[in-house]
Amino acid sequence: MMSQIGKIFEEARVAISGVASHADFDNVKSKILGPNGSFRELMKLLSGLPKKERPSMGQAINACKDKVEEMFKNKLIEIENSETAAFLGQPIDPTLSPISNEEIFCHPLTKIRNRIIEIFSNLGFSTVEGSEIETEWFCFDALNTPESHPSRDDRDTFYFNRDVSIENVSRRGDEQYVLRTQTSTVQIRTMLQRKPPIRVLSPGMVFRRDAIDATHYPTFHQCEGLAVDEGITVCDLKSILDFFFKKLTGEGSEIRMRPSFFPFVSPGFEVDFRSKNLGKLSNRWIEICGCGMVAPKVFQNCGYADDEISGFAFGMGIERLAMLLYGVDDIRLFFQNDTRFLKQFKLSML
Ligand code: DAH
Repeated sequence: MMSQIGKIFEEARVAISGVASHADFDNVKSKILGPNGSFRELMKLLSGLPKKERPSMGQAINACKDKVEEMFKNKLIEIENSETAAFLGQPIDPTLSPISNEEIFCHPLTKIRNRIIEIFSNLGFSTVEGSEIETEWFCFDALNTPESHPSRDDRDTFYFNRDVSIENVSRRGDEQYVLRTQTSTVQIRTMLQRKPPIRVLSPGMVFRRDAIDATHYPTFHQCEGLAVDEGITVCDLKSILDFFFKKLTGEGSEIRMRPSFFPFVSPGFEVDFRSKNLGKLSNRWIEICGCGMVAPKVFQNCGYADDEISGFAFGMGIERLAMLLYGVDDIRLFFQNDTRFLKQFKLSML
């Protein structure tokens, strides 16, 4: 019996040392340790031995089995290491220095979004997340956008069926759910939740029923900003946007504000910026952002006393900024996952 144990140990040792892959490993292990494996056969032989020899023989088999299991364990580590090394194309060397930012890519929209967050966080704005599914009241009514407004038309906005109800998106009444058409909805959710002073930034995805072409896509990203406090003026709005565009596009850049109309701000403005570092578009005024002073009706809709506080809001398109800053001439490139495009954007560059 002892010699049989020795023989099985030796066979196991040879078989384990010849294992070269995971599949091989499972195969050999089941032949040796599995329910019909060699150790099971050995155990069966025990019953043929005189009773008093059985315990010591049983112990010898188990001791041998422990050793074999240990060999399998070591083999598995060896296989996993070599498979990982093969996967990485090189043996693992823990002394190598980490991958530099030069070799890491970052989606251009993520880069711009992070840059916007970084600049505004230096001005005391914290980032809040809104819901991509909203309700008609939050997306339109609360933002002073009446029923008759063209953006509410179902040719422009994605509506959910009337009978849909979404548990974690609260409704005002029984209005329909929509995919939000603008990040301005975050103004309302924030003001309903917090009391002034407020300084928030909210980047995120928005949805419109636009036909796809080089400058339109039905899903795109915006970044909304909102500041509410006592005594906030247009002067604060202009200086904050001026600071932002200088940080984003270089010291020489300038902004100008033209009167414009958005239902939820009064007065409302369109912001143009001009920069020396924009390739073909250098030194040209480019429309980039909507903004204004939060309208009294919007404050009232959020239960704020509009004679005690004031505030400004702004909203800009992240794709548009990325297209201008990186000279991308087709918005579709952002969504095609073509690595030839994406690999041009390193984490290390601005
Ligand atoms: N929500 C507007 C849009 O999608 C952009 C905008 C304009 C946001 C003016 C604002 C603002 O906060 O004050 O076109």
